[in-house]
Amino acid sequence: MLEVKKSVGRYAASYVEDGMVVGLGTGSTAHWFIDEVGRRYQTGELKNILCVSTSEASSQQARELGLPLKNLEDVNAIDLLVDGADETTRQFAGIKGGGGALLHEKITAEYAHKIVWIIDESKLVDQLGKFPLPVEVVQFGSWKLFDRFQERGMNPSFRKDHKDS
Ligand code: A5P
Repeated sequence: MLEVKKSVGRYAASYVEDGMVVGLGTGSTAHWFIDEVGRRYQTGELKNILCVSTSEASSQQARELGLPLKNLEDVNAIDLLVDGADETTRQFAGIKGGGGALLHEKITAEYAHKIVWIIDESKLVDQLGKFPLPVEVVQFGSWKLFDRFQERGMNPSFRKDHKDS
């Protein structure tokens, strides 16, 4: 599994061209994408890229690699966003956000011209729903929403850690 994540992550980095604004996804597969973009940047193969990250964890990795990080507000658009996913069908429907970066990932994706999801085979499903659907909420009103989901038989639970990856 790790080898597949590593190879798809690294392969996806070959789509990055010099001059691009690159969206850095979140998770254990995106980690390898960022790693390879970092390597290409350090060798000088990619000189003029800018990166926008979808989580603090990915920002931290990008900083360690010396990648030029920008806030979403500082770029017009993202040329290519590469991110992981929690579940995907062959029709490209998917569930994301299981790592806790849902809102940032969605906002960033909104401004991306091209999005590539990198997954291993374990994420491929015929129908979405095996993976619990993440719903990001603000604190206000969240218990009301929780009750509503429960009434509808959705078996909700709150995620209580502060990680975003
Ligand atoms: C982050 O919130 C998620 O959407 C990730 O993109 C997803 O969980 C990535 O999964 P892997 O860690 O298996 O790549």
